[in-house]
Amino acid sequence: MPRLSQRSDNPAGLRFIRPERPAMTTSSFVPELPSGKNPALRVVPMPADANVHGDVFGGWIMSQVDMAGSIPAVERAQGRVATVAVNSFLFKNPVFVGDLVSFYADIVKTGRTSITVSVEVYAQRMRHANEIVKVTEATLTYVATDESRQPRVLPAA
Ligand SMILES: CC(C)(COP(=O)(O)OP(=O)(O)OC[C@H]1O[C@@H](n2cnc3c(N)ncnc32)[C@H](O)[C@@H]1OP(=O)(O)O)[C@@H](O)C(=O)NCCC(=O)NCCS
Repeated sequence: MPRLSQRSDNPAGLRFIRPERPAMTTSSFVPELPSGKNPALRVVPMPADANVHGDVFGGWIMSQVDMAGSIPAVERAQGRVATVAVNSFLFKNPVFVGDLVSFYADIVKTGRTSITVSVEVYAQRMRHANEIVKVTEATLTYVATDESRQPRVLPAA
């Protein structure tokens, strides 16, 4: 759709085209956010978080996912943790500037010193009030660490 037609302030007659938004996949459409759960984190990406195409950087999402996942890990470890592994990461749908992005983080496994957390991410398209899309799924492992940054045995649950 042309956004700027040939005008006196556009002597070259340039036509600016609004990028098409990718179609939402039906498998990832959910009518509402997960019920009975509180997000670990909710945040709205800003224009500085976008790439040249106007979509939010994957790296920004990864950073937020790491932060969200660390919250239940720190609680379970009752102290500091370090991210030892990103086991899986799936970007199912894009995130746009201005979306309200919610990160749900749940511990799925604990070991002697490690805590594995599943993080699910949903974007609420603020320009389309009822549209909520699952955008990312990830699994990360954190290790409880001591003051010397060495692995620490988890306290009793
Ligand atoms: C995290 C860290 C302290 C772990 O030390 P380590 O000597 O490698 O630890 P270990 O080999 O004893 O493993 C510790 C736990 O992590 C788990 N682990 C190690 N590598 C793993 C991997 N690739 N995937 C999943 N779990 C892993 C181990 O199974 C173990 O779990 P358990 O005790 O519950 O059985 C160390 O690797 C480190 O400092 N890494 C850098 C952390 C960091 O800076 N993260 C920020 C990103 S840059």
